[in-house]
Amino acid sequence: MVELGSLLWLHSLILTNGYRMAKKTLNQSLSAAKAAKKDEFYTQYIDIQKEVEAYLEYDMDTFRGKVVYCNCDDPFESNFFKYFAANFNKLGLKRLVTTSYDGSPIAGRGTLFEEYHAGNGKRRKPKALAVVLEHVKDEDGDGATDITDVELFLKRNKAARRALKGDGTYPGGDFRSRECVELLKDADLIVTNPPFSLFREFVALLMENDKKFLVIGNQSALTVSEIFPLVRDNKMWLGVDNGGTKWFEVNDDYDIKTESRKKVIDGTKYFSMGSIMWYTNLDHGRRHQKLPLMTMAENLKFAGKLKGKKSYEEYDNYRAIEVGTYKAIPSDFDGVMGVPITFIDKYNPDQFEIVGSDYEVKQGLHPELVKDDWTGKLDRGYLGGKRKFARILIRHRRSRIMKRTKQ
Ligand SMILES: C[S@@+](CC[C@H](N)C(=O)[O-])C[C@H]1O[C@@H](n2cnc3c(N)ncnc32)[C@H](O)[C@@H]1O
Repeated sequence: MVELGSLLWLHSLILTNGYRMAKKTLNQSLSAAKAAKKDEFYTQYIDIQKEVEAYLEYDMDTFRGKVVYCNCDDPFESNFFKYFAANFNKLGLKRLVTTSYDGSPIAGRGTLFEEYHAGNGKRRKPKALAVVLEHVKDEDGDGATDITDVELFLKRNKAARRALKGDGTYPGGDFRSRECVELLKDADLIVTNPPFSLFREFVALLMENDKKFLVIGNQSALTVSEIFPLVRDNKMWLGVDNGGTKWFEVNDDYDIKTESRKKVIDGTKYFSMGSIMWYTNLDHGRRHQKLPLMTMAENLKFAGKLKGKKSYEEYDNYRAIEVGTYKAIPSDFDGVMGVPITFIDKYNPDQFEIVGSDYEVKQGLHPELVKDDWTGKLDRGYLGGKRKFARILIRHRRSRIMKRTKQ
């Protein structure tokens, strides 16, 4: 027979665990809601224009004949839609598809086109919708084709849009929903600023479908285990205009703790973010610019922290030298070098090879880089027993070629 004490114990265990599980689920959904709220910041036209035009300088036909899909964009509000619609003919687009997400707080604000605040304010806000442009013609007959023609076209052609229903798993307009994945499969190029909290999933979808893309993300995404190997293997790289400070439009209730990162112009609130990167697999000129370098001897004579030192330091545990800044990468060293993550913005695949990262060494992916006599930790490169910051491990592209010719 089961004793009463055991039953009571079991009961209290269920209660406690049930409570814990409920609390965990609640915490998870609270943090997902918090992340979703943080995802709500909007890219400025100028930032999109600057980036896209850099690809045109490299290849005028980058977008010609292409179906461009902006899959995290409220068509009536997004500057991605506005830029591609306004430049439809200049870029030579075949089609522009834009889908908005059911739940987007800016849907219906109509910052581009009045449509959704027109009338007595009682008009139903749009749920998720897809807007498809096949051409942009001079609708108003003023001799030019621009965004006012797009506005007129959308007013006259209700068929250019359709509601997105979702699929039972994902809501309408979710980039992962069946309808949106179909649109993605039909597109040549995905261009957007996706929700950062879903960045890994977003990139995975692009890779699975072998799509060309130009998207905004955080620098920290570079180091995550789903993204770094893509960068290492040249399946994805940084775009042109990275880092620095970029201002994004936000809703009035967007919480900005630091005063200097906030500004309000004409009643519109902006938030400045650092370390924002463009991620792409479109080729551009900057990634083929050679990084100018000094020799080891020159660096030891002239460069910042190295000045006056006898040599570069080799890690205690890795077969590699520490190079604290990309500026101090020596031109004449053929071994592996540990450089900060910021190197990626200077990475020219003709000049360098990315071997891996300290994280990958820790994962056991590069046993050849571990010193034979080392018995300690591998989580980072150590110097004089001290753990260094996160590092990417690189070498000159020629090192491999030289090694092969010597053999
Ligand atoms: C960082 S904002 C950028 C918006 C717009 N692309 C821009 O740059 O102005 C990310 C957008 O993705 C939308 N979003 C959030 N989750 C989404 C999902 N699962 N699928 C599609 N869009 C989503 C949000 O509503 C938000 O508008």
